[in-house]
Amino acid sequence: MIEAGKTYVVMGLLDADSIAYAIGKTIESFGGKVIFTVQSERMKKIFFDRSKKLTDADRENLDIRFCDVTNDEEVKALFDSIEGPISGMVHSIGFSNPKTCLGEEFHTDAYDDLMKGFQISAVSLATVTRYAAPKMVEGGSVVTLTFASERAFAFYNWMGVNKAALEAVVRGLARRHGKENVRVNAVSAGPVFTIAAKHIPGFEELGNTWKKSSPLNWDPKNAQPEVAGVVAFLLGNYSKQITGQTIYVDGGASIIGGELMPHELPEGS
Ligand SMILES: NC(=O)c1ccc[n+]([C@@H]2O[C@H](COP(=O)([O-])OP(=O)(O)OC[C@H]3O[C@@H](n4cnc5c(N)ncnc54)[C@H](O)[C@@H]3O)[C@@H](O)[C@H]2O)c1
Repeated sequence: MIEAGKTYVVMGLLDADSIAYAIGKTIESFGGKVIFTVQSERMKKIFFDRSKKLTDADRENLDIRFCDVTNDEEVKALFDSIEGPISGMVHSIGFSNPKTCLGEEFHTDAYDDLMKGFQISAVSLATVTRYAAPKMVEGGSVVTLTFASERAFAFYNWMGVNKAALEAVVRGLARRHGKENVRVNAVSAGPVFTIAAKHIPGFEELGNTWKKSSPLNWDPKNAQPEVAGVVAFLLGNYSKQITGQTIYVDGGASIIGGELMPHELPEGS
C-alpha cells in the first residue's frame, strides 16, 4: 500500500466530488503526503472554493498547486517546485468539448476541439510522466483514470477514442519507464457522478442504468472511494510487478453479456 511519509502528486482536483479528491484522501489515510494540482486559480475559485461539501478546515489543510497540462512550462515548473523525491503521481484529468465532440452525432468537423481533447485526455499523461519520472528516484508509480474504451457508448463518442488512446499511452510509458522502476497503469472506473461526468450528455442515465449489468450493484453516487482504493493499491508496494495494465473498477459490468436477469439481482431491487 501507500508508504507513510512519502510524497504523492494527485493531478485533476476540481471539487469534493472529484475522483482526485477521494484519491488524495485515501493516500492521506495511509500516511502519505499529498500534493494536489488544480488546472488554474480561476478553476479553483469557481469550483473548489465554492464546494459546499468542504469545511474551511478541509480546504486549509491541503497542499494545492496549479498546473494546466497543455502547458509544458507549467508541468516542468510544478515538478521543479517539489522538494525531495516523489513516490507516485496520479493523472485524473480529461476533457473533450461536449458541444462538438460528445452528443447525438458522432461525426464532427471541429478538428481543433478533437485535437485539444486528445492532448488533454491522452497525450498529457506522457507530458506529466516525463517530468514526474525523474523525481521518482527510488522508482515509483503513475496511475491514470480511464473509462470502458473497448465499447462504444451513446454520446461518449470522441472521449471513448481518447480513452482508448490513453490506455495505449499507458502501455507505451510502461515500456519506456520500466528500466527506471517506474510503473504506469490505468484504472477503468464505472460511471461516477462528478462535474466532468455531468457535462457528458446522457451520462446520468448511463450511471443510473449501470447497475443493470453490474453483479456488484455499482452505485455512481458513492463510487469515488471504491476507485480511490484501487488507485492506492497501484501506487503502492503490493502491485510492484504490475505495469502497463488497465484494471477495471466498475462493479463487474465489463464482463457481463447483456443485462442481469431478475434472479441475479439483490433482493428487493
Ligand atoms: N466520472 C466518471 O464517471 C469517470 C469514469 C471513468 C473515468 N473517469 C476519468 O476520471 C478522471 C477525473 O474525472 P472526474 O470524473 O473526477 O471529474 P472532474 O471534473 O472532477 O475532474 C476532471 C479534471 O480534469 C481537469 N482538467 C481538464 N483540462 C485540464 C487541463 N488542460 N489541465 C489540467 N487539468 C485539466 C479539470 O480541471 C478537472 O479537475 C477523468 O480522466 C475522467 O475521464 C471518470
